[in-house]
Amino acid sequence: QPKRDLSGKHFIITAGPTVEPIDPVRFLSNHSSGRQGYAIAEALISRGAKVTLVSGPVALPPPAGADLVSVKTAVEMLGAVQNALPADGFISVAAVADWRPSSSSDTKLKLKGENAPAMIELTENPDILKTISHLSDERPELVIGFAAETNDMETHAQGKLARKGCDWIIANDVSGDVMGGLNNKVSLYSTTGVEHSDWADKASIAKWIVDRVADKLT
Ligand code: C5P
Repeated sequence: QPKRDLSGKHFIITAGPTVEPIDPVRFLSNHSSGRQGYAIAEALISRGAKVTLVSGPVALPPPAGADLVSVKTAVEMLGAVQNALPADGFISVAAVADWRPSSSSDTKLKLKGENAPAMIELTENPDILKTISHLSDERPELVIGFAAETNDMETHAQGKLARKGCDWIIANDVSGDVMGGLNNKVSLYSTTGVEHSDWADKASIAKWIVDRVADKLT
């Protein structure tokens, strides 16, 4: 029987990819199954927490008891997170597209012939994690970002911690087969040090993370 020590706590979690339209049939996006974020939502709910799950398009059923807010773009995702505040914790698991097409066409673009666009102009998307980390009034007590790295994990994670202004970075090594896969191994970086999990399925990794979240917030 899991402890219910997170009852009364509210968490906002982003999960899945964002999808940035080019025209009605084309988009820019990132690979993300949503599995790790959904597993964290489920682990928090099983400990009694209230969870707002702000999710890009994924092929997963929402965890029972989560308040699901479905979004497509990064701009919508940021709006949904702001709308769900206040919260005790924000966990940014989503694979947010860093860029979006500056404009999207209402009609399908013709990619051959005279009117073919030579280039797609891009605009930088808001950094949701950085924005929430730097809130003055409603900053959640614990703000956690994720980092997918293929090399020099420690350097990249510590850099990201400083750049984003979050409290923890949870890094996973994606040089293997993690993206879309069932298993994961993570390292939790904070300003006070690092802790490494074992290789495990994403539900066990979620429990490992939520144990540490509960230690921090209770
Ligand atoms: O900078 P990078 O994309 O590697 O950082 C990853 C972390 O930042 C993840 O927690 C991701 O959810 C978050 N992020 C975000 N908004 C962006 C880009 C990344 O919240 N536009």
